[in-house]
Amino acid sequence: MERVISGIRPTGNLHLGNYFGAVKSFVKMQDEYNCMFFIADWHSLTTHPKPENIRQSARTILAEYLACGIDPQKAPIYIQSDVKQVLELYLYFNMNAYLGELERVTSFKEKVRKQPDNVNAGLLTYPTLMAADILMHKADKVPVGKDQEQNMEMARLFARRFNRIYDVEYFKEPESFHYTAEAVKVPGLDGSGKMGKSEGNCIYLCDDEATIKKKVMRAVTDAGPTMLNQEKPEPIRNLFTLLELVSGPEAYDYYNDLYNNMQIRYGDLKKQLARDINAFCAPIREKILAYSADEQYMQQVAREGAERARESADKTLREVREIIGFRSL
Ligand code: TYM
Repeated sequence: MERVISGIRPTGNLHLGNYFGAVKSFVKMQDEYNCMFFIADWHSLTTHPKPENIRQSARTILAEYLACGIDPQKAPIYIQSDVKQVLELYLYFNMNAYLGELERVTSFKEKVRKQPDNVNAGLLTYPTLMAADILMHKADKVPVGKDQEQNMEMARLFARRFNRIYDVEYFKEPESFHYTAEAVKVPGLDGSGKMGKSEGNCIYLCDDEATIKKKVMRAVTDAGPTMLNQEKPEPIRNLFTLLELVSGPEAYDYYNDLYNNMQIRYGDLKKQLARDINAFCAPIREKILAYSADEQYMQQVAREGAERARESADKTLREVREIIGFRSL
């Protein structure tokens, strides 16, 4: 059975971008593939979180994974820092990762621009740690949103390079997985770009009804179409993208026709969107609260998940050490 792995950084609550870009696929894939999902707490260190927040952040994502419907019986969930083997593979990949190619990664360049005072080596080698996460378990498929495409290309590059250097056919080249024909990019409500924590434009799965409504009603719009069948500017296109994701194709077609006939009232569209987002989030919200309160179960899930992940990681590392030449003296 094909192997699936994916993870999310614990830097806040899960938002609609995380859900539609990644977690929705996790939930579907757990029935068809040999899945493992993790919480990428080492990756979150690039932003220097406070020690007292590290565990709580991981716990938050774990409760949210469970609330979204990931079943640890089908798909073990582990915390990245519980599986130290990943660090060794990270080191090996770093030895064959070149400064120029790491500096060219778009998300690294963005960080350099946005946070020039904190361009740490962890940011530079972010793609090699991610490659280690994936290749450690010899994943075939990795469910991720569009923003992770370049990191996925790097993972394939490091797999190919390792095989070439050691003249083996050891690592497979993992492919990204999306439940739609194209990679999913959930937009923000501020009129441009993607929904993201650092962009500060998120609707979180745990947001309550009033918060959702407030955020949606504030979404950027324009004065309305001035011609029949006019192309939509980005902020409006974004609203429609969200509508299609959350409300479905019928609602999309309904408002799309109104837009094309210049009869649209954005207020109505927003009300429907807020209602549907709330209907979608409400049951998840309740489950988040229930799982968060069940400390023992969460610990058990993380412990069992880590055990499964370590088994798989140990096997890979034994083989990789042998290939690299670390054999018994
Ligand atoms: P992270 O934590 O930034 O995001 C987690 C997942 O959510 C997706 N995502 C989105 N998808 C569509 N539209 C959006 N607006 C949106 N925002 C976030 C991301 O594509 C991602 O799938 N590097 C990863 C974590 C990671 C990982 C891995 C993933 C570490 N190691 C190994 C897969 C495999 C990250 O920072 O994702």
